[in-house]
This record gives sequence, C-alpha cells and structure tokens, in this order.
Amino acid sequence: MKIAVVGGGSTYTPELVDGFARLGSMVSELVLIDPAQERLDIVGAFSARIFQHYGHPGKVTWTTDLDAGVTDADVAVIQLRVGGQTARISDETFPLDCGCVGQETTGAGGLAKALRTVPVVLDVAARVRARAKPDAWIVDFTNPVGIVTRALLDEGHKAVGLCNVAIGFQRRFARMLDVEPSAVVLDHVGLNHLTWERAAYVDGVDRLPALIENHLAELAAEVDLDPEVLTALGNVPSYYLSYFYAHDRHVRDSQGAQTRGQRVAEIEATLLEMYRDPALTEKPALLGERGGAYYSEAAVGLIAALHGLDPDGVHSVNVRNNGTLPFLADHAVIEVSARAGLSGPTPLPVNPLAPDLAGLVAHVSGYEELALGAAVRGGRHRVYRALLAHPLIGQHDYADALTDKLLAAGAQHLAWA
Ligand code: G6P
Ligand code: MN
Repeated sequence: MKIAVVGGGSTYTPELVDGFARLGSMVSELVLIDPAQERLDIVGAFSARIFQHYGHPGKVTWTTDLDAGVTDADVAVIQLRVGGQTARISDETFPLDCGCVGQETTGAGGLAKALRTVPVVLDVAARVRARAKPDAWIVDFTNPVGIVTRALLDEGHKAVGLCNVAIGFQRRFARMLDVEPSAVVLDHVGLNHLTWERAAYVDGVDRLPALIENHLAELAAEVDLDPEVLTALGNVPSYYLSYFYAHDRHVRDSQGAQTRGQRVAEIEATLLEMYRDPALTEKPALLGERGGAYYSEAAVGLIAALHGLDPDGVHSVNVRNNGTLPFLADHAVIEVSARAGLSGPTPLPVNPLAPDLAGLVAHVSGYEELALGAAVRGGRHRVYRALLAHPLIGQHDYADALTDKLLAAGAQHLAWA
C-alpha cells in the first residue's frame, strides 16, 4: 500500500511515521510531499531512519512534486497548514481586540483558517483524484477538520476527516481503567473540536460515571474546565469546549501572553535541529509537547479498517450526518464513533443528545455551513454572516469589526480579498 502524506515536511510527521513503522505492516511506500524543500529533506531522512530502526521493510521517499508524489497512491493523508505558524499566530491574536477568543480552529481564528485552507485542500484533492489509484481514500487531518471534510465531500471526494481528540480520551480512560485501549468504546459525539465523551464502554458496561467520580480533578484539569462543568453535564467535554464554557477566561489569559503558535514555532525549531542528527532514529520526547499525541495510531487504525483489515475496530471520524443526529441536515459533517470497512465509515447508533449539547452542535453546524460558503465563494458579506452566526461572536459590532480584521490579516492568502 502506498501512502502519500501531503504536508509531510511538518515537524509532526515523525509522529505519523512512528505509528506506521510500528503498526503499519500494510505500508510498502510512504511518500512525504511538501513545498518546503529544506525542511522536507530533514524530516524525510529522519523518517527513513525511523522505518529502519523498527525494521519496517517499506520505503520512505520525499518530494516537492505533489503530482508525482500522489501518483498511484492508495491513501492520501492531508495535513497541511497554509501560511504556517505565522498565519496561526495571526488567528490567535486578531480576535482578542474584540474580546473574542483567539484560537486556530474555534471562533474568528478558525474562520480565517478555513478561508485560506479550503481552496488549497480542494486543489490538492483534485490532483490526488487525477493521479492516485481510482479507489484511493483521502484522510484529512487538516484543520478545521469538520469544514474541510465537508468541502471535500461536497466535491465528491472519497474522504474522511480525522482528529486525535477521541483516541486521546480512549487511551487515557484505558490507563485509568487498566484495560487495553481497544477495549474502550467511546460514545464520542458532536462536531470536530466540539465533542463530548458521554460514555466509555468496556464489555458493554459504561464506566464513565465512575471515571468522572474517581478522577474528577484530573479530567477537569485535562480539559481546562471547572470540575462542576463535568459533573453537571455528566460527561467529559473536549478541551476545545473550554473555549465556550470558559470563553472570557481564555480571552483574559491570552492578553499579552505568548500564543500557542509562538510556542509551537519554538518547539519546531528545536525539533528540526534534533531531526538533523543522523544518530536520531526514534521520535524525541519533545515531540510529545505538540498536540498530536496518538494521531499516528488513529491514522494507521482507520487506514487499515478502510482496507478491510480491521472490521471490529471503532474509530472516531468526521463523516456526513445522514440522519445520525436527526436535528441536523443530512449533508452536515459530524464527528462520531464509527466502524469502517471497504465501503467507508458507518457511525455507531447515537443516543439522543441532551438539549444543551444539541443546541450548541446545531448552532456551530450552521456556522460551519456559512463558513464553507465563504471559503468557497468569497465575499465580505459571507465572512460577516459566518461570524455573526458563530455562538462566540453573534453580535453585529463584533462581527463587523472582526470581518475587517480577518480580511486585513489574511488578504495575502485569499485570492478574492
Ligand atoms: C490537537 C488537535 C489538532 C491540532 C493540535 C494542535 O491534536 O486535535 O487538531 O492540530 O492539537 O497541536 P499544536 O501542538 O500545534 O498546538
Ligand atoms: Mn483535531
């Protein structure tokens, strides 16, 4: 199986490569594709050493030529970041002046990212479709994953969106329960970066209530929320929900502070220096400071399942709603637990959502549809309307000012602005 990784020059890539090297016996060739030649050469050579280190017989290659790289691929993993950390830092700061959270996937920053990213991913996907195997899958890690996956599916691509939030909870709960990760089946529901763990089944028994009771402080700290939020909801929201349930605190804490993008830029510089060392053959511990823990295992597991190699596994994926959440349009994209096979992912049945969860999901899903419209068609009025629709913005004065700021900050990446 040939796997092409678009954005393969990322300092994250060794995380992915580590997973394929340890668990991806089905992989015969891994091609890393990236326009940044110098970084790609460093990450590519290090990735080849990781494969060697684990005795994986597959070959690792790298190229700046997207069309050549995706030729005959069975899977294209898309994990690119348009504008790099510089654009991310802009997303994290321009909303703050309006008292709105600055984050790369949530709120106005997330919209800015969607606007510059969707056209690029659609171009990549068209080129994948032209040259990869006819039945090739696109696995999208590119944020904002919900909006990007929707864009891909609307264009008719054979695509599925993936995020590491659910697998992170699965691994954490498994450790707490002292069971194998695969023994934990999550009731993971919502939209990408807007999800809740409502149950954690082991042998059909929901262990989440006891986990919340026995590990409340740890779980609350992990998702950066007051413990009362978890006990009141009776579930574990993802970290990204803290931008909703603790919005103003995030804004206060962000004023004048180093942004995550700035911190990541520092980590990336150090990582690249480490990757240059020919003696380094395993991913360094510092990579664990990035947010991508287990994303490789999520990718390997899903890719194996999509090729019929894991009929029993459960994967949390971004897929068309198609009635799974009855209060959303069929064409909306949701993030839920699913089984996956040759014909794609099939969501597990979902119990009805409590009114507060359903309300927020519907609200943000509406925003996502407007955001995608703005990303595909452009226009100040579409950007404004998407911002007005976002539950963390929602007022004319803010939406109006943020539209101007977003367009000023992002113009270089927007063909129409
Ligand atoms: C988590 C999210 C990803 C996001 C990452 C950011 O893994 O699920 O979607 O890209 O965090 O991590 P970073 O190290 O770039 O802050
Ligand atoms: Mn994610």
